[in-house]
Amino acid sequence: MIVEMKNVSWRRDQRLILDQINWEIHKGEHWCLVGLNGSGKTSILDLINGYHWPTSGEITVLDQRFGETDLRELRKKIGWVSTSMQQRLHGYETIENVVLSGKFASVGVYEKPIEDDYEQVNTLLQEWRCGHLQGRIYQTLSQGEKQKVLIGRALMASPELLILDEPCTGLDIFAREQVLHMIDQIAKSPNAPTLIYVTHHIEEILPCFTHTLLLKQGQVAQKGWTKDVLTEQNLSEFFQTSLSVEQKNGRSWLMLT
Ligand SMILES: Nc1ncnc2c1ncn2[C@@H]1O[C@H](COP(=O)(O)OP(=O)(O)O)[C@@H](O)[C@H]1O
Ligand SMILES: [Mg+2]
Repeated sequence: MIVEMKNVSWRRDQRLILDQINWEIHKGEHWCLVGLNGSGKTSILDLINGYHWPTSGEITVLDQRFGETDLRELRKKIGWVSTSMQQRLHGYETIENVVLSGKFASVGVYEKPIEDDYEQVNTLLQEWRCGHLQGRIYQTLSQGEKQKVLIGRALMASPELLILDEPCTGLDIFAREQVLHMIDQIAKSPNAPTLIYVTHHIEEILPCFTHTLLLKQGQVAQKGWTKDVLTEQNLSEFFQTSLSVEQKNGRSWLMLT
């Protein structure tokens, strides 16, 4: 079991933000977490990473029950990519150092890297078609290039769980497809981490995402096999508007009807 949430609720300032969430993620599955802005997606991720404590319910991540575990050790096994991370990084670092810092789960590089580490960084950058960016300062990259570097950074620690919180926000369609391609390759790689991909764009859900959870106002609206969840009826109900769904390249595209 990778993640197990049992009747998890989270209240903040008298507001119930997450309401009785039950969610199991097993090894071999990759999940999409879908919900409109403010539905509580990032709050769920923050709970999984131990940044918030549930008001009630139980959370187990990578076989570690919260309350009985060293969260810092656990976090080293969880890769995390989000747009808010860009503000926390030192933008004046070279991309090599940004990627390298992922190994130490830190913002800058404080521990002394060894020769092998830089080799691993260079291999990663080549592998993800970022070789041409070598030596560049992070903040001079385009948004799409930055996201790819951040995903590379998250992979440095060989995480067991990789969480991608709206990684395609603000990207043009070409940059978006490049990032999605990278994610698809990760899912197909040997010893791939379990993926959790957060979005509110249905068409970003790649075929590698076996399962999908629809979150609405802090509650689970639907969850299960992606193909069973992303039906016209479910999505029309979920978005409370009449929608048709077209399949193309294994992905679902929505149209208003
Ligand atoms: N630390 C916090 N304190 C108070 N309210 C919060 C906090 N974090 C999130 N919220 C609220 O919880 C709701 C869900 O937010 P969030 O999980 O960020 O949604 P999403 O990621 O789906 O857009 C929002 O109404 C947001 O204002
Ligand atoms: Mg969010």
